Amino acid sequence: MKKPIISVKNLVAKYGEETILENVSVDIYPHEVTVILGGSGCGKTTFIKNILKLYQPFSGSVKIFGKEVTSMDEQEFNDILSKIGILFQNGALLNSLSIFDNAAIPLEQHTKLPNNVIEKMIKVKLDLVNLGYAIHMLPSELSGGMKKRAALARAIALDPDILICDEPSAGLDPLTSASLDELILKLKDLLNMTIVIVTHELASIHRIADRIVFLDNGRLLFSGTLEEAKKTDIPEVKTFFEVGKF
Ligand SMILES: Nc1ncnc2c1ncn2[C@@H]1O[C@H](COP(=O)(O)OP(=O)(O)OP(=O)(O)O)[C@@H](O)[C@H]1O
Ligand SMILES: [Mg+2]
Repeated sequence: MKKPIISVKNLVAKYGEETILENVSVDIYPHEVTVILGGSGCGKTTFIKNILKLYQPFSGSVKIFGKEVTSMDEQEFNDILSKIGILFQNGALLNSLSIFDNAAIPLEQHTKLPNNVIEKMIKVKLDLVNLGYAIHMLPSELSGGMKKRAALARAIALDPDILICDEPSAGLDPLTSASLDELILKLKDLLNMTIVIVTHELASIHRIADRIVFLDNGRLLFSGTLEEAKKTDIPEVKTFFEVGKF
């Protein structure tokens, strides 16, 4: 049995008095693609933000690379964060910066590498997402799909072990969304990453998922392999895999 790379136990997440996640336990396994599923507002983004300590979990345990992170101080957690690439749901690029400067942000924040090294590393990453030609362009000059790829280049700038993507294909047409899936799978293999991805799109799930985590109104309804998810009798999960809607 593989050891989880992220292990969440009995996570309770709140905003003020309001409980959003109740006792959610999820294991993420290395080199797999885990898809987080669930209706709008069920707590998927909250789950990710609590794992990343953007909000401090109310209670429960979060282990990343085997280390308990809930009690870590900022400096210690920064080390962990430098090994995680993140594509936020509304993860906009900074409009005043070129694609190159946007993608270089993590390297400037987390390393002391000289500029000429950063430049080489970012060029490689932009080539990997097929944006080598757009290096000096501004976000406003890019299409939706190109913006996602630029954000992806930024997310993989530090060669992360884990890549977390919150609805990467939201707002993209089906073809662009399919090519983004392909790109994420290609990067996973090239960089040997573990992927956690929030998506509602059934076609995308069939293409990329190894494992499914299904949240419903702040509770964990199902967690298992894609094959298990397709066969389960849990009504909400069954319905989703039949009709692609919650
Ligand atoms: N910063 C916040 N402060 C207070 N409440 C919040 C905050 N962020 C989210 N919520 C609430 O928490 C609940 C879960 O939100 P969350 O964004 O985690 O859902 P989601 O599953 O990611 O939804 P979607 O699929 O629409 O992105 C919602 O009721 C939302 O209104
Ligand atoms: Mg969300």
